[in-house]
Amino acid sequence: MEKIIVEGGRRLQGTVSVSGAKNAALPILVSALLAEGWSVYHNVPDLRDVRTIKRLLTDLGVQVNTQGSTVKVNAGTLKSHEAPYDLVKTMRASVLVLGPLLARLGRARVSLPGGCAIGARPINLHLKGLEQMGAHISLEHGYIDAEAPSLKGADIYLDTVTVTGTENLMMAAVLAQGVTILRNAAREPEVVALATALNQMGAHITGAGTPVVTITGVDTLKPTSVTIIPDRIEAGTFMLAAGVTHGHIKIIGTEPGHLAAVIHKVRQAGITVEQEPDGLRVVCEQTLSSVDVKTLPYPGFPTDMQAQFMVLMCLAPGLSVISETIFENRFIHVSELQRMGADIKVSGNTAVVQGGKPMTGAPVMATDLRASASLILAALAAEGTTEISRVYHIDRGYESIEQKLAQLGARLWRTRG
Ligand code: EPZ
Repeated sequence: MEKIIVEGGRRLQGTVSVSGAKNAALPILVSALLAEGWSVYHNVPDLRDVRTIKRLLTDLGVQVNTQGSTVKVNAGTLKSHEAPYDLVKTMRASVLVLGPLLARLGRARVSLPGGCAIGARPINLHLKGLEQMGAHISLEHGYIDAEAPSLKGADIYLDTVTVTGTENLMMAAVLAQGVTILRNAAREPEVVALATALNQMGAHITGAGTPVVTITGVDTLKPTSVTIIPDRIEAGTFMLAAGVTHGHIKIIGTEPGHLAAVIHKVRQAGITVEQEPDGLRVVCEQTLSSVDVKTLPYPGFPTDMQAQFMVLMCLAPGLSVISETIFENRFIHVSELQRMGADIKVSGNTAVVQGGKPMTGAPVMATDLRASASLILAALAAEGTTEISRVYHIDRGYESIEQKLAQLGARLWRTRG
């Protein structure tokens, strides 16, 4: 089992570039299913989850060709409508193939994604929306069996703001007969990026990025070329790497507009964030201030930054209250941080952090993608050495994390076994 060893206490400084966004690359790669011919995607991050979705596309009969960060996909050879359990269980975002397979083939058989460490993560809203569009859905033996000779536009209200739910239904609707309206839709930049890619393919989508998205179905779509937007969560994680090490980091290639809530809270914590033509300059020279945070759907503070921000608050003298409103079990990192000396009390979906106490290196275990990022941040700030196990979690969402941190002056390395 691989581990990452970190020698903490070093100030990070220098320049780091942000990779393409995992949560934009996944739905956009899947959207290639909707057309015949070669679509070309640039700035695709080399991540475990991206490799999984490419394997799933290949299993469906789709041609996938990777050259560096450019991925070409041709769904003209699509022949299977089944996403098997052994793939879906490793990455729940595989459920995104449901909508496109129904739209393209009229059939889809996708393993029900189980829960995961951070919560039950049901997909009831995905399925309810597809049924409203005329799909017949049965759940048997752990699989979703969906059939829709032809999908019809529908007026769909999403009880909860769901990112992949919005994306799945958007991709089902682009080839449906008539108009689909998604109400209470997710507004994340990754949803907007998908809508932009689909419109480039010939779809008619308006309102992406607002709570009401309208999709007018068309007969066919054509392949396209897309550059994946930068990863705002990776950028936010590096901002906090500057904060927890009292460092000075220039983050290039990021889109500050996607990070407004995070920039606001980081500045409130006493960190300087300056917008420059090619990215953000983040400098932490003064004592940190404790700040309360509540995670919300975009444009609120992202749940994917909650664990990382908690580490910053462990280092800020005073009390801060962190409320997690998106997932029911997204404080798993707390017990690991406590082993490094953090003073955190959890009650329900609220964590109260008594910050300002020194953190010390310890053997810890990663439990999910963003929790593992928080453990790396804590290790960078801690006195002494930290050993992080189960680092396969981090590889799901951070490209070349050790190399990028090492070039900023961090002392860390990966061990096998
Ligand atoms: C996406 O997950 C992201 N993943 C997650 O990032 C992110 O944390 C999450 O959105 C919230 O921003 C991808 O985009 C691949 P949701 P998703 O559906 O779409 C409930 C990471 O670290 N819900 O927006 O699965 C659900 O239980 C990952 O990169 C239903 O009840 O999240 C949750 O409480 C982690 N029924 C809330 O909605 C449904 O049918 C938001 O979930 C769907 C969702």
